[in-house]
Amino acid sequence: MLGLKMATDPRWVNVVERNLEEILVDHAFCEQKAASNAISMIVQYPHYTDLVQAMTAICQEEMAHFTMVHEKLMERGLTLGFERKDPYVNDLSEFLRRNKTNSSPEGMFVNKMLFAAMIEARSCERFKILSEELQDEDLKKFYRSLMESEARHYTTFLGFARKYGKGIDVDKCWHEFLEFEAQLMEKYGTSETIHG
Ligand SMILES: [Fe+2]
Ligand SMILES: [Fe+2]
Repeated sequence: MLGLKMATDPRWVNVVERNLEEILVDHAFCEQKAASNAISMIVQYPHYTDLVQAMTAICQEEMAHFTMVHEKLMERGLTLGFERKDPYVNDLSEFLRRNKTNSSPEGMFVNKMLFAAMIEARSCERFKILSEELQDEDLKKFYRSLMESEARHYTTFLGFARKYGKGIDVDKCWHEFLEFEAQLMEKYGTSETIHG
């Protein structure tokens, strides 16, 4: 799905099912972080007008998602709570940090776009699983509705990597990143967080 080379362990949904509060809190912060990331792209690349427009739209959409997840928590009598750790995202960022071939300004731009594209892709895959496998009918529908926007965001980030990654073999970088992510997935799928 969306280029991902390793599917999530199907047992992950059983772990999630046992603790819906935990997944909702973690999910809310995933949306908030996606919005923050979009703002940070605007701050760092203000001269790419089309990127600024796209990031403005993504930021608004991610905060709308945050509102929706927060409402799901409130409907269930639950409270947001503090942000959960996301070791998956740290592993992705560590891999890109070690990747010295992309240390030019264009390379660093490509890395930031691929990083966001990967998180969107894996989140989308996880939402698809939730939309198909959860017992909770309300949450199934909810995750189905969010899946499509994350797939769109994935395409947007990858498109900007290709457009402004001058002199960088973006397809090769993306392929290597996907290979790494597939290996990473072997150790995930065990905890009740969106990327856990
Ligand atoms: Fe989102
Ligand atoms: Fe997104």
